[in-house]
Amino acid sequence: MDNDAPISIAVFGLGHVGLTTALGFSDLGWNVIGVESDLAKMKLIQDGQVPFNEYGISDLLAKNLHSGRFSVTADIKEAVCNANILIMCVGTPQDTDGTADISQLQNLARKIGQNITSHKIVVQKSTAPVNTAAKLKEILLSNIQNSKGSNDELVDIVVIPEFLREGNALHDFFNPHRIVIGLDNFDLKDMLGCIYKPLLVKMGKNESEILIYTDISSAEISKHTANAFLATKISFVNMIADLCTKVGADVEDVARSIGMDPRIGSDFLKPGIGFGGSCLPKDLAAFIQVGKINSIDFSFLEEVNKINELRISNYINQVINVLGDLKEKTLGVWGLSFKPGTDDIRDSPAIRIVSELIKLKANLRVHDPYAITAFKEFIGVSDRIYYAESPSDATVGVNAILVLTDWVQYKEEDFKVIRNYVNDPLIFDGRNLFDPDLLTNEGFQYYGIGR
Ligand code: UGA
Repeated sequence: MDNDAPISIAVFGLGHVGLTTALGFSDLGWNVIGVESDLAKMKLIQDGQVPFNEYGISDLLAKNLHSGRFSVTADIKEAVCNANILIMCVGTPQDTDGTADISQLQNLARKIGQNITSHKIVVQKSTAPVNTAAKLKEILLSNIQNSKGSNDELVDIVVIPEFLREGNALHDFFNPHRIVIGLDNFDLKDMLGCIYKPLLVKMGKNESEILIYTDISSAEISKHTANAFLATKISFVNMIADLCTKVGADVEDVARSIGMDPRIGSDFLKPGIGFGGSCLPKDLAAFIQVGKINSIDFSFLEEVNKINELRISNYINQVINVLGDLKEKTLGVWGLSFKPGTDDIRDSPAIRIVSELIKLKANLRVHDPYAITAFKEFIGVSDRIYYAESPSDATVGVNAILVLTDWVQYKEEDFKVIRNYVNDPLIFDGRNLFDPDLLTNEGFQYYGIGR
């Protein structure tokens, strides 16, 4: 590609990562075409509506549609013709054996390849196992039609993994800790550095403080390693929580004690019912398969997964140990999403617990600030579930309150009032959201995790 050619970006797949990336680059001043194959979703976005819950993204969509720098299409050919940097953000879901299913990436590479007539930089942003980019490059090259010379000249593949969190996606796009760029053609450094220049200026940072250029495999591995490490921290602290429960210690104090050491760091040491969501569990499973494929002993990560799986039964057993048989008991459930700040219930520990409680024939009064619609779709009709209007409504006549997602608004509830609503003043705080003393003072029996 001519280094002086005007940069224009196409982003394929407008989910959490794709739409955030597209709007982020557009807001930084680049012309961006968003490509979404789901026509209903594409039309929604074209009309300025965001098909998922993500803080701040509606305003950014309105702003960038209005500026004319962001447009949306379902037409891959149009996007390939009009952009020179093509960013792939389609899903890589988990296959039955845990492997990442890269078929959406492969299909997209095929379609992009069929429409390439001039040089393109194709960026793999979707999380995928090491060596995926190499496979995609082969697909891209073998699908280029009608080219006169060597197809090799027409495509460069680059891996720029995404580290943004759901619920904080825009904040993370505009304030990255690092941007990893994996490439085998180092002549592209200037061009790729250039698309991030407006961001670096905004952040007041130099390139060397944020951008990491590396080879393609290292970039792919960086992403899986980051999520596996975060998962490890959570399972580690949950393992210690089990010990604390056993000996009557307080895991929160232990976590604080170790977290203040900068070599350890305090983030991701929050004990609870475990990690969920569409990324950590899936990426951990996929990385374990990468270990197997490469004959590397990744049993360490299998333990991380095992500890996380145990959270669900440990928590339910904790409730049963106190309440006995849960059949026809009424439980108030606070929180369904996999973490606060999102309506996403994919692989949510809360949903796994709720599903088990229904099997045990408990009656549930459930509340979540955002995730009720998604939950209703998932669970279908059940006469065991009452959908509460408010957190306090979820506590009326219950035998216990179960805190499953650490929404901050739950901390604002007045437990003096709630004490009068509940049948039995018991609280099982699956996220260690509350101060045990505060609840004990209000007459509640408090059960946390590892404290
Ligand atoms: C995660 C990573 O944090 C992002 O860096 C990454 O880009 C993203 O996956 C991805 O691969 O796309 P996300 O899935 O949004 O982001 O969620 P996290 O904030 O990481 O939380 C994951 C789960 O861990 C949640 O269920 C949360 O409740 C749990 N968690 C987190 C704990 O149980 N304890 C903690 O200390 C922190």
